[in-house]
Amino acid sequence: RKRVAIVISGGGSNMAALLAAMAAPDYPAACVLVAANRPEAGGLAKARAAGAPTVLVDHRDHADRERFERALSAEIEAAGAELVCLAGFMRLLTPWFTARWRDRLLNIHPALLPSYRGLDTHARALADGVAIHGCTVHLVRDATDTGPILGQAASPVLAGDDAARLAARVLALEHRLYPAALAAYAAGRLRAVGERVEGQPIALWGG
Ligand code: GAR
Repeated sequence: RKRVAIVISGGGSNMAALLAAMAAPDYPAACVLVAANRPEAGGLAKARAAGAPTVLVDHRDHADRERFERALSAEIEAAGAELVCLAGFMRLLTPWFTARWRDRLLNIHPALLPSYRGLDTHARALADGVAIHGCTVHLVRDATDTGPILGQAASPVLAGDDAARLAARVLALEHRLYPAALAAYAAGRLRAVGERVEGQPIALWGG
């Protein structure tokens, strides 16, 4: 089983979905660390309750982004992680961290990339009147919310949706997509070849 560190900033519902999937004996990855950059991250208590080792690396204790990332990376390495899953991690990363973990760093983003990189994805999709929205799991490159796509899950936008309703529907899809994409990558069914992924990316549909 691939040893995985999960890095969070908030409530950690994606982290919880990954931990739940990892509880299955045949899942190809296991969690060796949950790291948070904010003491308020609600996911820390959820991780402890699930029996996962946790660490707080508070970005405010570090003079700049790279020093924070070096401290975070040291914790991840000390835990013996081979892969890192960002799960609601809300700090921009420097090229130092993305190079250090190149092709070993996954992220989940609440939009169908390459559309709607960045923040407020659901409100922006609604404002554009798109008919289909969703989420993406990808390998992380320097530019925020770019990199080879491991999987996507899509949902119709429904009449009467506001950003909160749409976010909830997409979040439920995130909880299915991330465990499936991590499993495919950890098991070697998907491989990074430069800026492409070799193999069949995960494709999910839900309403
Ligand atoms: C999720 O929707 C995730 O896709 C998004 O934050 C939420 C975290 O929820 N991530 C980003 O926006 C990354 N820039 P969670 O803490 O309950 O998993």
